[in-house]
Amino acid sequence: MSLESLRDFIAALDEAGELVRVRESVSVDREITEIADRCMKSRGGGPALLFEHPVLPGGAPSRFPVAINLFGSYRRMEMALETPSLDAVGARITDLLRADAPDGIAGKLAMLPKLAELAKMPPRVVTGPAPCQAVVLREADLDVRELPHLVCWPGDGGPYLTLPMVITRDPATGARNVGLYRIQVQGRRELAMHWQRHKVGAAHWRAMAERGEWMPVAIALGGDPASMYAASAPLPPAVDEFLFAGFLRRSPVRLVRAVTCDLEVPAEAEIVIEGYIDPAEELVVEGPFGDHTGFYSLADRYPRVHVTAVTMRRDAIYPATIVGRPPMEDYYLGHATERIFRPLLQLTLPEIVDYHMPAYGVFHNLVFVGIRKQYPGHAFKVMNGLWGQGLMSLAKVIVVLDADVNVGDPDEAWWVALNHIDPERDVHFTMGPVDVLDHASRGFTFGSKMGIDATRKWPEEGFTREWPDRIEMDEATRTAVSEKWARLGIRLP
Ligand SMILES: Cc1cc2nc3c(=O)[nH]c(=O)nc-3n(C[C@H](O)[C@H](O)[C@H](O)COP(=O)(O)O)c2cc1C
Repeated sequence: MSLESLRDFIAALDEAGELVRVRESVSVDREITEIADRCMKSRGGGPALLFEHPVLPGGAPSRFPVAINLFGSYRRMEMALETPSLDAVGARITDLLRADAPDGIAGKLAMLPKLAELAKMPPRVVTGPAPCQAVVLREADLDVRELPHLVCWPGDGGPYLTLPMVITRDPATGARNVGLYRIQVQGRRELAMHWQRHKVGAAHWRAMAERGEWMPVAIALGGDPASMYAASAPLPPAVDEFLFAGFLRRSPVRLVRAVTCDLEVPAEAEIVIEGYIDPAEELVVEGPFGDHTGFYSLADRYPRVHVTAVTMRRDAIYPATIVGRPPMEDYYLGHATERIFRPLLQLTLPEIVDYHMPAYGVFHNLVFVGIRKQYPGHAFKVMNGLWGQGLMSLAKVIVVLDADVNVGDPDEAWWVALNHIDPERDVHFTMGPVDVLDHASRGFTFGSKMGIDATRKWPEEGFTREWPDRIEMDEATRTAVSEKWARLGIRLP
């Protein structure tokens, strides 16, 4: 059975023993962060948490429970996407991409299950009462500050929505985008939208500014967990995240028309904030915000959202996350992307055997890549290829290794890399766009990148010395010792 909503997901986590219900009153002003941070930093990511009695910054109790760390472990990420393993989702994509022309009737019949799967992907717009619109608050009646937005860290510029699905539309093509961008609460009906310049929501906003038109924006909190994850996935602008969620769920996402803006929102959402941006209006100061780099991102100027309606379920649950020094919950969301998108990366760079972005590299700072090296200079071809693709273009350091290195193990990857490099020969610097959150680059979103060729060097690359083998014990000795092990009296921790 598909998980249709956030509450379905929470119920599944509860049943699996993955959730702790916190009955104690806890403030949304930093206390939830401190508790969630201790959980997220514990081994394996700690439990998911449902705060049943959050307290608003002014001291009043909130009637909305706060759910956090729902995606914060390998197991919960698999549960969210209803898959036995994240690599299995990647394998489904590989299968989908295999474009063999079917042979004869039998071949065509064999295509039917694939076609049936494709038919389930597009979202369905439904009419009639939707759970997310059981309560509708329009302008005069609403105050977004009544929701239990987190004030995450002491230096933050204010309370934030940290786990929203931000829905916008490309005015030229009509293509929908759903992005996970933090949003600062700045007033009763005012929000600041932190979509970074490289993201699709920001591109839609620039397009609307060129047209001089108001931009409708819908912000959904909660929904089916596949959609919530999909908002964080770096899909190409033409691919609708709700379609991708339909693929992940094997069942369409149900959408309903928003009440005050020309957009569709997930019918199963817990809360939806509707509004618009006037691109002609002056930008507002957003931040600072304790970010996923582990440092504060500095205050900057972003567009203001004017809220026109808040719709919700009668007993809505408020989903949140926190970011900060890794590892945090976002590592697991990013890890899902790493696994699921591997086949798509291999489409253009088939020599890539595997890649990994370790938690402390906060995604854009460090990427290990394992390749099947076939010609001199191949490692440089791969790093340049990666710097030319989507959000990979923001990667600050790329380390390329041979296929026999387990790049999923950063200790192994660094051990081999540091042994295999002659720094002056193997480190390559280039320039390019840099993540908005990089506080060290010479310019805002512009700076240098470092590629490390840690593959074995070939004579054609000018290396004429002998290259040594890795030390491995022979199989016969290993077996002989394993047989004796129990009698040796050695207890290893
Ligand atoms: C917890 C979390 C918070 C995020 N916050 C932001 C943010 O504030 N601004 C932003 O541009 N991207 C943020 N991201 C990254 C985007 O969600 C991600 O790049 C996504 O691919 C953007 O979607 P888009 O490609 O449709 O723009 C965040 C990701 C996570 C997991």
